[in-house]
Amino acid sequence: MTTPLRLGIAGLGTVGAGVVKIVQRKADLLARRAGRPIAITAVSARNRDKERGIRLGDYAWEDDPVALARRDDVDVFVELMGGADGPAKAAAEAAIAAGRDVVTANKAMLAHHGQDLALAAEKAGAVLRFEAAVAGGIPVVKALTEGLAGNEVTRVMGVMNGTCNYILTRMEHAHLPYEDIFEEARKLGYLEADPTLDVGGIDAGHKLALLASVAFGAQVDFAGVALEGIERISIADIEQARDMGYRIKLLGVAQMTGRGLVQRMSPCLVPADSPLGQLEGGTNMVVLEGDPVGQIVLRGAGAGEGPTASAVMADVMDIARGTRLSTFGQPASALAQATPAVSSVPAAFYLRMELQDKPGALAKIATVLGEVGVSIDRMRQYQHTEATAPVLIVTHKTRREALDQALAGMDATGVLEGHPVAIRIEDV
Ligand code: HSE
Repeated sequence: MTTPLRLGIAGLGTVGAGVVKIVQRKADLLARRAGRPIAITAVSARNRDKERGIRLGDYAWEDDPVALARRDDVDVFVELMGGADGPAKAAAEAAIAAGRDVVTANKAMLAHHGQDLALAAEKAGAVLRFEAAVAGGIPVVKALTEGLAGNEVTRVMGVMNGTCNYILTRMEHAHLPYEDIFEEARKLGYLEADPTLDVGGIDAGHKLALLASVAFGAQVDFAGVALEGIERISIADIEQARDMGYRIKLLGVAQMTGRGLVQRMSPCLVPADSPLGQLEGGTNMVVLEGDPVGQIVLRGAGAGEGPTASAVMADVMDIARGTRLSTFGQPASALAQATPAVSSVPAAFYLRMELQDKPGALAKIATVLGEVGVSIDRMRQYQHTEATAPVLIVTHKTRREALDQALAGMDATGVLEGHPVAIRIEDV
């Protein structure tokens, strides 16, 4: 029998337990495909006594993940602890220094330290891979690195936080405000321990930065992602956008332009009948565009035990088969430093405002838009309350800078109650 590939797994939460189950339950299939057995030799977690519903008795136990990473009987260190710094990073560094290959699901660690870790791995002759860090079960890193290796990638888009998509679609179907559905998501256990990671767009921003690096051959630049969360999306916006033929998604967009790399994770309107517009609940979707392939749409579970463990195993199987890919699809030493775009790509915008019921009020708003060169494509005024009427405007394509000028000008007219809401409409 050929030599087994020996795994040391640090972190036995949902994903870690899922990996153990695959290795135990699909041993024959994995061995046939890899041409060698996949074995677990050692594991590590915070609590040894916790009941996990998996057999761990055959494996050595390490309290310290760094010690696990350095063990001589471990070929691949599988890091499933999470956290940008702390034990996860210390253990990944120790594994690389000891010449071990590393497979991780840790988007935060790679978004912040991916370049340094990839360089260290390259120097040590080790592999560092992260399929499970982006969009759970969707093999999008492999799609970009391998399947689309012959393409110039022109744009990457995605709904990559299932919790946010659950909240937005559930608000729409239940006709309930953000706060109520946020609470529901918390009770269902959908939110990260720090919910800002989800609803603030940070978790999805980490994923976008990793994909942008692979897609555009640039060093990971999480600081260059323009982030906006879903906390301020109202039920009125969801329902009125729908009425205009759109749905609101927390959408990531990465695009290389003549002005630099655009990386944006923010609420956007997308056509309701587009694949992204039809995405329901906690599912993820990634849209890849390349020359010459055109557009590819990948859809699947973005989190959970089975899907995420499936992605971890994709990287493990590569290593077992002797496939040694660079972390970001090309040598880390050859990745260019990302230059963030100085201005945004023009887009149409959805505007919603509460207009006072006075003669000439609407004319004042239209004048402000005209003065900064923003042209109106469509407009709708809804039924009045006692003193105000909701007005929706869809603009023609314009630059965000011009729109911001218009928003300031609208505030100054004195004919609005509160501030206007502006949401980008993405061409998908
Ligand atoms: N919290 C994430 C989500 C999964 O809701 O998609 C982990 O990245």
